Amino acid sequence: MEGEQKSKITCPLLLSLIAAVIGSLQFGYNTGVINAPEQIIKKFYNDTWFSRRVEPINADYCTFLWSVSVAIFSVGGMVGSFSVGLFVNRFGRRNSMLLVNILAFIGGILMALSKTALSFEMLIMGRLVIGLFCGLCTGFVPMYIGEISPTSLRGAFGTLHQLGVVIGILIAQIFGLESLLGSENLWPLLLGLTILPAVIQCALLPFCPESPRFLLINKSQEEKAKEVLKKLRGTDNVQEDLQEMKDESLKMLQEKKVTIPELFRSANYRQPIIIAIILQLSQQLSGINAVFYYSTSIFKTAKVSQPIYATIGAGVVNTVFTVVSLFLVERAGRRTLHLIGLAGMAVCALLMTVALVVLKHFSDMTSFSYVAIVAIFGFVAFFEIGPGPIPWFIVAELFSQGPRPAAMAVAGCSNWTSNFIVGLCFQYVEKLCGPYVFVIFLVFLIFFFVFTYFRVPETRGRTFDDISKGFSKAEGNGVAAPQKDITLPPISPTTEKMPMV
Ligand code: GLC
Repeated sequence: MEGEQKSKITCPLLLSLIAAVIGSLQFGYNTGVINAPEQIIKKFYNDTWFSRRVEPINADYCTFLWSVSVAIFSVGGMVGSFSVGLFVNRFGRRNSMLLVNILAFIGGILMALSKTALSFEMLIMGRLVIGLFCGLCTGFVPMYIGEISPTSLRGAFGTLHQLGVVIGILIAQIFGLESLLGSENLWPLLLGLTILPAVIQCALLPFCPESPRFLLINKSQEEKAKEVLKKLRGTDNVQEDLQEMKDESLKMLQEKKVTIPELFRSANYRQPIIIAIILQLSQQLSGINAVFYYSTSIFKTAKVSQPIYATIGAGVVNTVFTVVSLFLVERAGRRTLHLIGLAGMAVCALLMTVALVVLKHFSDMTSFSYVAIVAIFGFVAFFEIGPGPIPWFIVAELFSQGPRPAAMAVAGCSNWTSNFIVGLCFQYVEKLCGPYVFVIFLVFLIFFFVFTYFRVPETRGRTFDDISKGFSKAEGNGVAAPQKDITLPPISPTTEKMPMV
């Protein structure tokens, strides 16, 4: 208990967390922003087409252009997340975040001016560029937060990334209402608004310190690292933190530089990289974005009378439960919350299927619309308890400084790729499966539950070095170890290695 009380939340730490999380907010905002104004922007595509060819656009071609505009964001995200390693070791964590804001400006300007320039190509390009930016953010933010946080609060602070994402989605849903910015005249402003957080982040980041781990381990600047640690922890006594980083640094010197193929070849990294990838898949193949991309049409199918407000309701539940997870994650642990989240989502997916089947076959049983709303809200709530926040930050925890950037790149790219696949396929699969579409997610959820139960170790309260040592021990000479070796028991708070604050 002693250690936990010692972890102070200082002003420099808080400022750094807030500045970083603006990147997460950008990701959420650009995920949610394109839904509400769909019809209005399609009309703009038609107008543009007409102005060039003096004939209306073919409906199928318009749908195709729209799908491209939505999906190209994830393509940018895949490329961006995969490129994280190119930046973080060269420029540092903080400077990388600062530098890539140029993409937010370019993307925002392209989208904001597309209407004036009568060019849907500009909008599509803007979505690609902003996707690149968001892909990079999904790597930079969890990495920076993980590296500046004290061990005892790393999970709670790690959840802040997801909190930024969900607040971004909610803001986009609300601003996207036709009575606010989702109107025929104002939609360019809605899309271009992404420039504002970029300005704020650029103003704040110069006042935030570089990651002390990067300074010490990558740059061998011990004095600077010590200064930063003192500021972040609000004390002169940072010896324990520093020693832990030095141990990790020493270990790193004995390893070759870790490339992406190396992650899969080396026995030490194979286990954690597989866990990292599967956890990302568990987040996306749970079906969460089927809800966030298509909730309005799902609610329509379920005969809900005000689908747009039900969608905003889902956004509110999403935000509230991310806050719940923030408070639970250092008490209950990552593994337990992930398991509870997956199990709860599975139950809700089943409930949703029952509601959709009943509504389809018995048109007078309209009360089942409420069952559908409860099921979707429950689905979203359980998602945010575990599968929403945990996969994002646990990757930074599963790897030490050397392999971390490569691992974040692989994990981020797996996340964005599966996000892209769900976004692209859901509508077609729904046509094929009708009310049974959520059964597919149910099967995935059961698989991910079983995997997490048997394979995912608890990381709460353990240092990075301790976690990666757990895997090395488990792998031995490249031979997979029995389960009991990799599922290290959670360390009780009294025996946790806490930074001296
Ligand atoms: C996670 C997912 C993202 C999803 C969001 C919903 O951040 O990565 O794809 O839209 O949660 O809250």
